[in-house]
Amino acid sequence: MSLQNAFEAEFTKPSVFLDRNKIMPHYTPNVLPFREKELGDITRVVAAALRGQRPENLFIYGKPGTGKTSAARHVMDELSVFAGKKELKIRHVYINCRTHNKKYKVLLKCLREIFPSEPDKAFQGYSAAYLYEKLVGFVRDTETHLILVLDELDKVRDLDELIYSTTRSNDELPKGGISVIGISNNLLFKDALDPRTKSSLCQQEMIFPPYNAEQLHTILEQRVQEAFHPNAVESGAISLASAIAAQESGDARTAIKLLLRAGEMADEARVNKVTDVHVKNARSSVEQEIIMEHVTLLPEHEKLVLYTIAALTLQRKPIQTLSGTKAEGVLYSGEVYEEYERTAKKFKFNDPVSARWYREYINQLEMYGMIVTTQSGPGVKGQTRFIKLKVDAQKIKDVLEKEFAGA
Ligand SMILES: Nc1ncnc2c1ncn2[C@@H]1O[C@H](COP(=O)(O)OP(=O)(O)OP(=O)(O)O)[C@@H](O)[C@H]1O
Ligand SMILES: [Mg+2]
Repeated sequence: MSLQNAFEAEFTKPSVFLDRNKIMPHYTPNVLPFREKELGDITRVVAAALRGQRPENLFIYGKPGTGKTSAARHVMDELSVFAGKKELKIRHVYINCRTHNKKYKVLLKCLREIFPSEPDKAFQGYSAAYLYEKLVGFVRDTETHLILVLDELDKVRDLDELIYSTTRSNDELPKGGISVIGISNNLLFKDALDPRTKSSLCQQEMIFPPYNAEQLHTILEQRVQEAFHPNAVESGAISLASAIAAQESGDARTAIKLLLRAGEMADEARVNKVTDVHVKNARSSVEQEIIMEHVTLLPEHEKLVLYTIAALTLQRKPIQTLSGTKAEGVLYSGEVYEEYERTAKKFKFNDPVSARWYREYINQLEMYGMIVTTQSGPGVKGQTRFIKLKVDAQKIKDVLEKEFAGA
């Protein structure tokens, strides 16, 4: 087949998708069912700026895929439109801290958004203190209410300093000010915050609850209408995708990814209907994908702990209990901790975390569904915790080795 013909075949290939973009996880729909209350609450907090008052800082948290990013972006975009119409001095900057993971990078990103016509070198290479003065100068001169939306805030390494800076700036600003909307899906993160940072950041707080199967069903139906050809998705496929996502996490992203992958599978099979069988087949690939994405986002030492568990699992040390039973692939918590300390040294990460933090990490990894733990029953000396990896050990090891090599 000539390449022209190959292009023609691709071009005319039938597809169940009408607009595939609308079922991609990064797409934000204009209406967010079941988030009316949350949208209203965020609106009330930021509306202070309309009255010339500084909005209180807001911390939004909730499990992955519960609509935090979508809701925050939606409210801020609408606020900008409204402020534009009324010629009010209200600005917001949305920053994903996964890539802007330091105070310096956050400030740099802010200035670039605020002064888009300035050349890169206007800000590059200066100290954080200079960038900070520049930002505060802008707010002071223009008497603007600047709202920083810091998504995935838990990724900021020097968060205490960042929050402290924004708090301090408001003492220096007679009019206008800087407010922070922080977003995180790490439920343990808030408790680990420095008390001063916490009280400043959490002047207002909001929890986004997971969605149930019925709610996910409605959300998916809406997306299916936009993204797929009429009648291309059987109702059984929508029901199964919402049931799976509800059972696992109440995560709308998982539900959406399931349907996206199921649609791709239908296209590959050259059929014009997405059925529950496609969803069933999409399940394990979506689950693995989500977990692997998540793995790369863990804090460094949590990655090291997970890496250690994967490496030890691959060595398959079977354990022997006093009653004589052997458990394959199950590890002692204590042995993992000791090996983690060695691993940290091997990859040149200084200061392994304390045993207390290690236990916290184990709890988190279990919460993310990457491991399961059990307490020792009778027959084993003392009380100990067993750890079993729930994901592909080789994959985890490969992905993390690559990450450590690049760090
Ligand atoms: N109520 C809703 N209605 C329609 N779509 C939704 C709703 N909530 C979430 N979604 C969709 O689900 C996906 C995930 O939502 P979003 O990115 O807002 O979640 P999140 O809470 O920020 O997750 P994370 O903590 O992982 O960042 C997006 O594609 C979003 O459009
Ligand atoms: Mg998000």
